[in-house]
Amino acid sequence: MNKILVTGASGQLGSEIRHLSSQYPFEFIFTDVAELDITDEQAVRHFFETNKPNAVVNCAAYTAVDRAEEDIETADKINHLAVKYLAQAAQEYGAKLVHVSTDYVFDGNGHRPYDELATPDPQSVYGDTKLKGERAIIELGIADSAIVRTSWVYSTFGNNFVKTMRRLGAERSELNVVADQVGTPTYARDLAAFILDMLPDFASPKTELFHFSNEGVCSWYDFALAVMEMSGLDCKVKPIPSEKYPTPAKRPFYSVMSKEKAKAQLGVEIGHWRDALQRCIGEM
Ligand SMILES: NC(=O)c1ccc[n+]([C@@H]2O[C@H](COP(=O)([O-])OP(=O)(O)OC[C@H]3O[C@@H](n4cnc5c(N)ncnc54)[C@H](OP(=O)(O)O)[C@@H]3O)[C@@H](O)[C@H]2O)c1
Repeated sequence: MNKILVTGASGQLGSEIRHLSSQYPFEFIFTDVAELDITDEQAVRHFFETNKPNAVVNCAAYTAVDRAEEDIETADKINHLAVKYLAQAAQEYGAKLVHVSTDYVFDGNGHRPYDELATPDPQSVYGDTKLKGERAIIELGIADSAIVRTSWVYSTFGNNFVKTMRRLGAERSELNVVADQVGTPTYARDLAAFILDMLPDFASPKTELFHFSNEGVCSWYDFALAVMEMSGLDCKVKPIPSEKYPTPAKRPFYSVMSKEKAKAQLGVEIGHWRDALQRCIGEM
């Protein structure tokens, strides 16, 4: 287990894996769409044949949740069909596969943390295409493959809620933020470490699902307040209901996921979202 292919490596998660890579005894091959377009089936097969990775971590995705409502075909290509190509290649060349998915596979009407056995029911094109990607891996019956569902991802890299709040918080004296959608933020660096730590010993006869986010629960309003506080920004955050902030894609009201399986089976210790946010802001 020494050569790891990371796809979508210029995104938030891929960049955090790159950031941590020198701490791990692996050889990494970082690719984004310019080096390996995962929607190109021949290119994917050729890449595996040439580079023979022992593992692939798929960080590539179509993550523009609202745009996906109109651009269904592209979202499906990247989040579904391309995942099948990667899984087929991993199976053919005997590579481990870690694929990243989302809390948006659930309907968000729950009241208890969703575990891996909860029934998915996506409410958006993004969630639907991500679920199809998951199912493409599971249907192949591929060994040594894991799907890690995560939520509310932010990082020092790329664009995300934390950066948007910091920008708006510096520009404005007041900001309205939705307070009736709750979930758990995930610092992409913690997710990156979780994936890299699990890879060497991970073995399974079939695809294993895991949920991973930071600990705790908050609303977007709570999250925004914490960003302002920790960034020392004097911007008043006002809570509003979702109906006052309409979006093309429906958002889950409740998207907290249970991490009990990851903790029990992989022994991972997970930090609280506030501590993780403090660490991230400290690096910005
Ligand atoms: N962000 C969140 O809040 C969130 C929440 C839950 C789950 N997730 C999941 O977590 C994973 C990582 O998310 P992230 O936030 O790191 O995403 P991200 O920042 O949007 O990164 C995705 C990367 O994939 C690249 N990409 C797009 N199409 C590609 C293709 N055909 N071939 C190769 N690369 C391609 C993107 O390039 P371009 O930028 O040029 O398109 C981008 O660099 C994804 O599976 C996502 O669905 C994210």
